[in-house]
Amino acid sequence: MTQNTSPEPVVAIVVAAGSGVRLGGEVPKALRVLAGRPLVRWSVDALAAGGVTQVVVVVADGLQDTFADALVGASVPFAVVVGGATRQESVARGIAALPPGEVVLVHDAARPLVPADVVRDVVAAVRAGAPAAIPVVPVSDTVRQVAGAGSIVVDRSGLRAVQTPQGFAREALLSAHAAAAGRDYTDDAAVCESVGYEVVLVPGSREALKITEPYDLAVAEAIVRARG
Ligand code: CTP
Ligand code: MG
Repeated sequence: MTQNTSPEPVVAIVVAAGSGVRLGGEVPKALRVLAGRPLVRWSVDALAAGGVTQVVVVVADGLQDTFADALVGASVPFAVVVGGATRQESVARGIAALPPGEVVLVHDAARPLVPADVVRDVVAAVRAGAPAAIPVVPVSDTVRQVAGAGSIVVDRSGLRAVQTPQGFAREALLSAHAAAAGRDYTDDAAVCESVGYEVVLVPGSREALKITEPYDLAVAEAIVRARG
């Protein structure tokens, strides 16, 4: 396990501007409550537990005050800014509001239970020189690729599922996002890769699951109960 004992700031962008169509419900996904606290609050506190010192939370227009209220009492200082139509645009809006810090994490508000060790390991990989570092887990299901009416099995031994927080050297993230503006990538590591930066993999955790559908919220409730 690595420890963040450095006084240097580690800043994070938490993207929370999605609506959560697949989860459903009356409020945006990041404001849905897990064990008494909104998902966004869990996510910010999880980053703080892993050594993050300041957070920019990116939210849908009109919800700035609602999110600020939901984050009262959070473990680190935070700013709230308005996001864009895609996740990538929301990250870009967060980048525009970043406080100083050479290590920058980008995290989905929808991953509320990422363990502190995973956050620390991502930060440590960037401190050790990686321009981009991402947590990954093996794919446990057998995977088939569909093509037309048929399908073929895919060797899953070489596959990894990608989680957040993803960590970056500040200059790598900023320059890659500027170069990628207007082209759509699946995540920030792919944005960095598109301009030639190496992406380093670190072990993720099943507990860093992304809340996507109602089932995931039930799993997260169970994880919180098991943690005691
Ligand atoms: N996100 C964002 N801005 C967008 C779209 C997504 O900040 N324009 C954020 C979401 O708030 C979420 C993360 O990106 O924390 C991952 O996206 P996803 O899980 O797809 O969340 P939603 O887009 O909200 O959900 P859905 O796709 O079901 O509507
Ligand atoms: Mg989405």
